[in-house]
Amino acid sequence: MTLNLTKEEQEMLSGKHGKATQKAMEIITTLGNIYGAKRLIPVSSVQIAGVSYHNLGEAGLEYLDEMAVDGQTRVLTTLNPAGMDLMEWKKHGISEDFAKNQQRVVDAFAKMGVVTTCTCTPYLIGNLPHYGEHIAWAESSAVCFANSVIGARTNREGGPSALAAALTGRTAEYGLHLEENRDAEVKYVVEAELRNTDDFGLLGYVIGNRTRKSIPYISGVLKASTNELKSFCASVATYGGVALFHMEKVTPNVTTIPETTETITQEDLEHAREKLDDEKADIDFISVGCPHASIDEIRHIASLLDGKQVADGKTVWITTAKPTKDLAIKMGYYDQIEKAGAFLVSDACCAVAPLKGRFTGLMTDSAKACFYARGKNDFKTEIRTVEECIREAVS
Ligand code: F3S
Repeated sequence: MTLNLTKEEQEMLSGKHGKATQKAMEIITTLGNIYGAKRLIPVSSVQIAGVSYHNLGEAGLEYLDEMAVDGQTRVLTTLNPAGMDLMEWKKHGISEDFAKNQQRVVDAFAKMGVVTTCTCTPYLIGNLPHYGEHIAWAESSAVCFANSVIGARTNREGGPSALAAALTGRTAEYGLHLEENRDAEVKYVVEAELRNTDDFGLLGYVIGNRTRKSIPYISGVLKASTNELKSFCASVATYGGVALFHMEKVTPNVTTIPETTETITQEDLEHAREKLDDEKADIDFISVGCPHASIDEIRHIASLLDGKQVADGKTVWITTAKPTKDLAIKMGYYDQIEKAGAFLVSDACCAVAPLKGRFTGLMTDSAKACFYARGKNDFKTEIRTVEECIREAVS
């Protein structure tokens, strides 16, 4: 199959628009050829992952610097969380050395015209596509949210392919950009009661572990808030590589309904909770905001912390996007949180910050955070409601 390019795309590939654009077009066309795409399509929004210096290292930074010599974004582009709060990193115990290198990464993106707000919930801070819009996002939870909750269309991009989409304004038309690849493959009937974000994370754990990259159709979820759906998206993407699901009466997608049906019971959820709870976890770190907290979640946490004090030996991170933190400052939530001795951390999260060795046990409402706390940082974990997390923090 041949990949047909427009005149402008051919010019990008030939180097007429500069070296970075040429390199970016090489990445896009190579992917297109590998996946049998017939053409490239314009994207209106990009979200780039792989921003933490902790994951990128010097080699990654060198690549970014090279692209930043003459590369410029053509569409709205935002970043995934970095390894630190770009303003208040010092008080969170991040080293000068790490901070210097993390800032170099962010500067390279800024030089290319990337909006350097670092968040995994771009849809909460203005990078919000509409139904049916083609986009190129990289963060797995955001990809799942965009495809499933908003009804936009994106494959799960890698760091370099997302940057390439930003510099060319194009992606290859394959995978989830095509209608025929978006049909559900297995149906789940949820009989369990879902009360909070942690329950939705547990549901994502169960469906993710059973589904393994196929597309689930989910019925039985009577209502789900945006906060609960973002928790579910993060979990089902982490545990099952799911980039698209159809949730009956909740998400706007159109699909045929699969005949193969499985049931999810209260026991399944309880079993998932047991799996994410380590025995004898000594909790010294509490983190809420995975995916990044909305202003509504921050308001709630601020009210729970108001007039209380974080206990000695415990550290609390509420992670969010910078524009949401700014709003929290304006509303007084930041003061309530920080007066209690907790931190409202923007631009970063507990999975990509250099935290290994600093704590032993994490309590969180996020199933995804449990996965990374164990895998990357060797922390023991406990998953609880937000209210229980805050109670633990001040006890
Ligand atoms: Fe976001 Fe970090 Fe969780 S990127 S989804 S807060 S692990």
